[in-house]
Amino acid sequence: MTTLDLAPAVPDVPVVVPQRIAPDTFLIPNLTSAQPGTYVFMNSLVILAAEPVVVDTGAPFFRERWLDGVSSVVEPADVRWVFLSHDDGDHIGNLAEILELAPNATVVTNFFSNERARSDHPGVMPIERQVWLEAGSSFDAGDRRLHLFRPPIFDGPTTRGLYDERTGVMWAVDSFAALTTGAVYEAVDLPSELYDESFRLFNSLVSPWHEWLDQRVYRRHVDSIEAIAPTTIASAHGPILRNSFIPGAFDRVRAMAGAPNVPPPGQETLDAILAQVLGQDRT
Ligand SMILES: [Fe+2]
Ligand SMILES: [Fe+2]
Repeated sequence: MTTLDLAPAVPDVPVVVPQRIAPDTFLIPNLTSAQPGTYVFMNSLVILAAEPVVVDTGAPFFRERWLDGVSSVVEPADVRWVFLSHDDGDHIGNLAEILELAPNATVVTNFFSNERARSDHPGVMPIERQVWLEAGSSFDAGDRRLHLFRPPIFDGPTTRGLYDERTGVMWAVDSFAALTTGAVYEAVDLPSELYDESFRLFNSLVSPWHEWLDQRVYRRHVDSIEAIAPTTIASAHGPILRNSFIPGAFDRVRAMAGAPNVPPPGQETLDAILAQVLGQDRT
């Protein structure tokens, strides 16, 4: 059975549209379906700085919707920077397309992302359009500096988050992932049980090495990121965090140091999915 055969059985995902989450700052959301009634965020961000910035480029799966969403917020030709947090497919997926539409844009990336993208995504990241910046450095978007840092949870070695000193918005990349119930973007609006359980599972899945972490050493790193003092946290696969959800999220990842991995869904889950899909195909 091909992927196309399965496609009609995949439930429709709710319609999502760009959300203004802070001054000059727009979440570009997309969703993929998860367990019944729940969805995984596949977000990116646009910062309408004096020199507009696209923060990550989403997955190829929803290319058209992603380009529409970005274009509804900023004229692509005006985009000056594309910040690539890392080279995973759900972050680099529409890079070639946005670079074609934004001839004046420079990709903020790093040596290792370029190395990895050269083989995994040949041709999408022209070397002459890159600058290489690591955690601890920053770049100037005309009316603000954007600071790079190493997020507390990450699944790619090239990963750097981004902090906008003007708005207090932090892009946490693959940290703080959690399911949503649909077009619900704020953690405060989600069922607390869903947030608790999916946060534990997803953050453990993203960084399974957490069980080997020394609590004191890891705490120092997490403390240093929390000390940036973001007022809003957006991420690729989680809801928007504000107020008490911000220290709460840092506490949750601190507690992962040395804790056992959260068991992921196994064969039983696959069997249930296949039974549902095959059953629907037969009706
Ligand atoms: Fe990733
Ligand atoms: Fe991701």
